[in-house]
Amino acid sequence: MSDPIEKIIFDEKVIHERIDKIVEKIAVDYENKDLVIIGILKGSFIFLADLVRSMFRYKLNPQVDFMILSSYGSSTIPSTMIKIERDVSVDLEGKTVLVVDDILDTGRTMQYVMERLRWLEPAMVKTCVLLDKPTRRKVDIHADYVGFEVGDRFVVGYGLDYDGYYRDRPYIAVLEESPDETSKHE
Ligand code: IMP
Ligand code: MG
Repeated sequence: MSDPIEKIIFDEKVIHERIDKIVEKIAVDYENKDLVIIGILKGSFIFLADLVRSMFRYKLNPQVDFMILSSYGSSTIPSTMIKIERDVSVDLEGKTVLVVDDILDTGRTMQYVMERLRWLEPAMVKTCVLLDKPTRRKVDIHADYVGFEVGDRFVVGYGLDYDGYYRDRPYIAVLEESPDETSKHE
């Protein structure tokens, strides 16, 4: 099988340097707070792992929990269906929450998560994404901490997949051909 990876846009070193910078800011904002980090699976698993290890320098002592969401997009149906496959299992009442995802694309996933979390009465919720595709946004939402902005290209690696593959790459790359938007992604 030929490798369709076209171009590495962020290599391992650049990603780790950026994560350390983001964590510097998070450490100031979340100092002396009861922090719960919620990773949105599957895409965030590598980013979240590196994020919390970088955070350890600041002794923020977070709890870590995960939500699993699946979304089904379609180029013919403008709205996307999002389903919770696994909900939050930590008590969030009065906690300061940081939601971590791989990428903010249309923004629908993050909007859905924010609506869900509101019911659990946290004191504060902020969002952190490794990648942001602002030109693709369909709902009015932004992330509080962003690793890198990317254009309207399909990217893989560092947790992000195409059809379940490429999550293991330590870098972020664009694929040779952008896959059909109708494909299911998680
Ligand atoms: P949103 O709900 O449209 O913001 O989509 C967010 C989810 O779509 C992300 O958590 C990713 O799993 C997936 N996604 C969006 N763009 C890409 C991409 O370029 N590569 C891989 N996954 C993507
Ligand atoms: Mg995802």
